[in-house]
Amino acid sequence: MDNFQNDLFLRSCKCLPVERTPIWIMRQAGRYLPEYRAVREKADFLTVCKTPELAAEVTVQPIDLIGVDAAIIFSDILVIPEAMGMHFAMEEGVGPVFTQPIRNEADAKALRYIDPFADLKYVIDAVIMTKKELNGRVPLIGFSGSPWTLLTYMVEGQGSKTFSKVKKLIFTRPKLAHSLLSKIADVAAAFLSAKIESGVNAVQIFDTWGGILSEDDFKEFSLTYIQKIISQLRRNDEPVIVFAKGVHYMLDKLARCGADVLGLDWTINIGKARKKVGDKVALQGNLDPTVLYAGREKIEKEAGKILTLFGQGSGHIFNLGHGIFPDVPPENLKVLVDFVKKESAYFHRAGE
Ligand code: CP3
Repeated sequence: MDNFQNDLFLRSCKCLPVERTPIWIMRQAGRYLPEYRAVREKADFLTVCKTPELAAEVTVQPIDLIGVDAAIIFSDILVIPEAMGMHFAMEEGVGPVFTQPIRNEADAKALRYIDPFADLKYVIDAVIMTKKELNGRVPLIGFSGSPWTLLTYMVEGQGSKTFSKVKKLIFTRPKLAHSLLSKIADVAAAFLSAKIESGVNAVQIFDTWGGILSEDDFKEFSLTYIQKIISQLRRNDEPVIVFAKGVHYMLDKLARCGADVLGLDWTINIGKARKKVGDKVALQGNLDPTVLYAGREKIEKEAGKILTLFGQGSGHIFNLGHGIFPDVPPENLKVLVDFVKKESAYFHRAGE
């Protein structure tokens, strides 16, 4: 068992009492930090992911520089399809691009099941190295994409505005889609379990593209497979966070999927979300990431609103409603983090 200097994040995931609200930021290790860009001058993105020393270095940067209450291992959701046999390149200005997206049964069959300790050894090594460097300062989060979000990239080949290829697949070849989602879920569960065994203290499942599906389709093609991952996880009491962007019309169902924490994007009122599901799960979020373009006064005002909307008591982990943008000044993030640390104590009085 870890003995943390700061376990506010883990206690909040379990709705246990805390002295103040913890905060971490999605994509906190990234291009908005000059120190990250300096590492990227020497090595391209995938090299950073695949070199445990570099991955550990950039994972720890926001702990030292910004003072967040949790670290998230530096990697990418797309290391899973890569390990299953799909090659991708990170193209400047485009993002990840798969050279041979999945188009038919043969492509699907060619995808391999993996042994995470062998095929994703570089992530496991990065976790072990990062744990040493953190030395109990804060907990470490591991993550994977949801099967649905991974499938969108594997079928589209890259980001998309319409997602017509992956939607065509689920509506014309539902059996094939289900077998792919099932295979990805098995691999993601094995990978997350291996990360837990290697030292991560919580895991987050990113369903970035859940919100492009109708309610019924979300249940059938995304939620089912998030549940499949959670039910297969080998864990002790490590919390599971599910961040399904654009799906707050399903909060009640999400709250029963086995997650300890639901991540919220910024379009929902966190006070209303708490009323709906707050007795079942903790909530994470949900400041609009673009508020960080504004000055101190506006950042503090909007962050204060979120603390007030959530209200008294535990079960809130402060975060943005999606990843931080690369052109946000790091000082602005520091303003947010310092404000939340100081002002949130008010919401945890009376032994809460
Ligand atoms: O949060 C963290 O600090 C940990 C690292 C992390 C990265 N990607 C690093 C990264 C995490 C948790 C991710 C998750 C991820 N990756 C998601 C789900 C979360 C979300 O933001 O919706 C998705 C959809 C991806 C796929 C991906 N990776 C895209 C679409 C892109 C290109 C867009 C962009 O921001 O450039 C990436 C690249 C990527 N992943 C970068 C980083 C720091 C930037 C690459 C660089 O350094 O040049």
